[in-house]
Amino acid sequence: MPERKKMSGSARIFVTNPMEGLIERSGLDPLSGLRNRADCTIWSGNTSVDSRRWLSLISEAEGILCSLGDPMDSDLIRSCGNLRVISSCSVGVDHVDLAAATRRGIYVGHTPAVLVETTADLAFGLMLAACRRIVESDRFLRRGDWSGRPGWDIAAFVGPDLHGATLGIVGLGAIGRAVARRAQGFGMRVLAWSRSGCQVQGVETVDLERVLAESDFVSIHVALAEETRALIDRRALAAMKPGAVLVNTARGGVVDEMALAEALASGRLAAAGIDVFEREPLAGDHPLVGLENAVLTPHIGSASVGTRIRMLELAVENLLAGLDDRPLPHCANLEELRRAGH
Ligand code: DGY
Repeated sequence: MPERKKMSGSARIFVTNPMEGLIERSGLDPLSGLRNRADCTIWSGNTSVDSRRWLSLISEAEGILCSLGDPMDSDLIRSCGNLRVISSCSVGVDHVDLAAATRRGIYVGHTPAVLVETTADLAFGLMLAACRRIVESDRFLRRGDWSGRPGWDIAAFVGPDLHGATLGIVGLGAIGRAVARRAQGFGMRVLAWSRSGCQVQGVETVDLERVLAESDFVSIHVALAEETRALIDRRALAAMKPGAVLVNTARGGVVDEMALAEALASGRLAAAGIDVFEREPLAGDHPLVGLENAVLTPHIGSASVGTRIRMLELAVENLLAGLDDRPLPHCANLEELRRAGH
């Protein structure tokens, strides 16, 4: 049964997760400033992330500290009459109904910038793991399948080289640029498609068709928006080089997962490294799960101890600023609030 860390008549601040694993690993507790406040409730149950179960606890809340897995939908926002700030420990705010929050004049805080390098590291790790078949060969060894075979096999687990290959970056924001820097260190030719026309030294900016047609590796770094939903659809996958590798650390909705699974199963694509999915958590029977050439991770792009702590610190700063009516260090709906006259 879920339990509350701190009982009070009504929570002025509600925190959806005690973040114990992170605090234990880091020895740091960015929540300490909130933890001892009589008006702060920290949800410490092993929640199945159902915001409906919080409603009775949060209806009086003025501030909520949440993260990507916590849906902040219009019903929840409507039922919190005193709510002034939703602070999410994430850069993405897909889980927050921004329009509903803006209508009510509620600030939505988020944590951009601090996770750029860590997410770029994972994108690179997935590229290497996918092309060099690291996870597949680890599974082979652990199953005991190496015994009884040659100690070294010239044909075993061969895959494409990363160094010297062409990398196509879809979206040249901060993470896309951080991936480009890493690729240059590996001697890769780097192409990129940028909606904003961003130019970066050593990166050839071209249209999406050329990125898809010429790249041995394609790494996705666009946010999920109307224009990018299913951007990498069946047609785009078919336009990729045969034997190419696709990596997605951005948002699942950018890729047509069924079409990707087919392209991997047929061998049209050599491999994929995917950290984000249309529906999270990923169902155990999803077509990607059964594919040896798909390296799958559970949305861990920002999951280094240092980065997650920094995200949490920023989320606490955003929350406290919003409650004090000071400008949030990072507000996801600032423009919208201004346009709406708040
Ligand atoms: C975010 O913060 O939006 C990332 O996807 C997870 O760190």
